[in-house]
Amino acid sequence: MPAQAQGTTTPAAAADLRHVWHPFTQMREYASLPTIEIASGQGGWLTDTQGRTYLDGTASIWTNVHGHNDPDLNAALERQLRKVAHSTMLGLTHPVGSELASELSGLAPSGLDRVFFSDNGAGAVEVALKLSFQYWQLSGRPEKRGVIGLQGGYHGDTFGAMGAGDSGAFHERFRPWCLPAKHFTAPHCREWGGQVFSADSEASLASLRGLLEAEAGTTACVIIEPSVQGAAGMRLQPPGFVRAVAELCRRHGVHLILDEVFVGFGRVGPILVCTQEGVRPDFLCLAKGLTAGYLPLAATLTSDAIFDAFLGSHDSGRAFYHGHTFTGNPLAAAVALENIRKLIPLVESGVLRERIAFFGRALGEAFAGDPRILEVRQRGFAAALDLAPLGPREPRLGLRVCLKARECGLLLRPLGDTLPLVPPFCLSEQELSELVGRTAAALDAAVPRA
Ligand SMILES: Cc1ncc(COP(=O)(O)O)c(C=O)c1O
Repeated sequence: MPAQAQGTTTPAAAADLRHVWHPFTQMREYASLPTIEIASGQGGWLTDTQGRTYLDGTASIWTNVHGHNDPDLNAALERQLRKVAHSTMLGLTHPVGSELASELSGLAPSGLDRVFFSDNGAGAVEVALKLSFQYWQLSGRPEKRGVIGLQGGYHGDTFGAMGAGDSGAFHERFRPWCLPAKHFTAPHCREWGGQVFSADSEASLASLRGLLEAEAGTTACVIIEPSVQGAAGMRLQPPGFVRAVAELCRRHGVHLILDEVFVGFGRVGPILVCTQEGVRPDFLCLAKGLTAGYLPLAATLTSDAIFDAFLGSHDSGRAFYHGHTFTGNPLAAAVALENIRKLIPLVESGVLRERIAFFGRALGEAFAGDPRILEVRQRGFAAALDLAPLGPREPRLGLRVCLKARECGLLLRPLGDTLPLVPPFCLSEQELSELVGRTAAALDAAVPRA
């Protein structure tokens, strides 16, 4: 692989080019670009091994909540580290795991009292799908095994999660190996700064209703990312949509899985979307912000009614045979508990809401009406700018803006020609203005104003 011409050239960077295979990355292109080697983080900022600092505009891929190197999270981690770093949940338990399960049940809509831990978002979804599938078998309805997802849905890259999702190019190649899920039409909502400019969920709900009327008898579950479909490009759902989906599922006797891996833990405002919407899903999937972006941990919550169906003698074969080595890791659980302790006052005091409102106003002032942007969308700290294509002679516009952003001291990652802006919540108003200003400067550098 050719050595790169510019960027970091430490021995570690050379080892990276020689040995590391990066996720979701065309490695030939990666090798042709400057390497950025992150050495440390503080608050919303990351510093590379050359001493250059960057605003973390992706919250380290949509995970970071209170900032990097947070003293409270660090202390919680260190306290647990002095006790035990890892002990299995297969046949044993540990205090931080059970305390976290109880906290999560308390945050979730009432009745979601059982928590199954895993260690990534796709895993949490996989668990929900398998629990739904097995539940119907155990209940004498083995024919209920179909899955209905939402157009554009992304639930991770394991086979079950890929099958339930509809991520086009990401997963198309693997489709022949995936479960044959059906997908209903996505709703439409254009919103930023707390103002809804256009919204429509009728066609979407009609399409779900049609599928359920025809196939509820053979369908195990409906799965959606509620409120915002992140990987689809921060596609927003109109208020009330999630509740309408839940009502259709209930009426047709089909499980509802809410994948709050991205939107949970304050990302779009409330701690959990389902609580705000007044919806109790059959399965709730959590990851990413659960540990404030510190460590891998995920959870799938469900009801006692579903849990009880799995009870029986050892020989009944009703047990749920699924698990991961690091399921419910104590270090991650300790950080998650501290994250929740810090997040509740941030949400309840209205401080998070005010920061979100500031972010929305700043985005609107910078980009609304800009002919280089087709659409601005924002809900909470999840925002996206759809870039107007420049034509076939100027492809990869999203990447080009992100490369210019690096020169402006801002880390972003494009989704095609959509630019997601997903900052940590700890940014001050001054830093949020910097984020928007640096994005605008990167856009100007990549696509000069007409
Ligand atoms: C909504 C949603 N579900 C699941 C996942 C997969 O999570 P992980 O990458 O931890 O497997 C993602 C990741 O972006 C996501 O946005």
